[in-house]
Amino acid sequence: MRTRIAVLVSGGGTNLQALIDAQSRGEIPDGEIVLVISNNPNAYALQRARNAGIEIAVCTKPDLEAKILETLKDHNIEMIVLAGFMAILSKYFVSHYPERIINIHPSLIPSFCGEGFYGLHVHEAALSYGVKVTGATVHYVNEIPDGGRIIAQKAVDIQEGDTPEILQKRVMEQAEWILLPRATEIVSKRIRLEKVQ
Ligand code: GAR
Repeated sequence: MRTRIAVLVSGGGTNLQALIDAQSRGEIPDGEIVLVISNNPNAYALQRARNAGIEIAVCTKPDLEAKILETLKDHNIEMIVLAGFMAILSKYFVSHYPERIINIHPSLIPSFCGEGFYGLHVHEAALSYGVKVTGATVHYVNEIPDGGRIIAQKAVDIQEGDTPEILQKRVMEQAEWILLPRATEIVSKRIRLEKVQ
């Protein structure tokens, strides 16, 4: 029985697309993306899910977490992938899925992470600090924003003349879209093996 995965999104969904593409190439044999949940009804990620024939749900405030938890339960979800999900999940929420929620963050944690560091802001911070290397990190989600155990990281060089937008694209292409499907398979496999024990 493959691990039943829900992907949580808020925006463009290029990381979701990388997961869908990896799944169709057979690179996530131990998991199956069965649901995409967005907290933004206008997220293009929802269209990507529809195009791939994956069921979608939109959960908005108020009671965002309660709605998401109920939707996850209804679909017997065993693992959650945060792929550009722009809301911080509470301790209460994560306690329902210990070591079963993973997140992609567009820097080398512990640099440029935590509350306020999301999307383009992360790359703005890296450029204004003047680091020469950045990258992406996939980590487990716990009650500390970007504070859970690291699963995988990949470094990306910063180049002369980079803007936040140029850097964001390079970090996605060279790190995020590779790391997230790999980490998803690693964790899906661990959960699947736990079930048969
Ligand atoms: C990605 O760069 C992802 O790492 C980042 O938002 C972008 C979403 O793009 N996530 C965070 O900053 C979380 N703190 P996408 O919607 O095209 O995948």
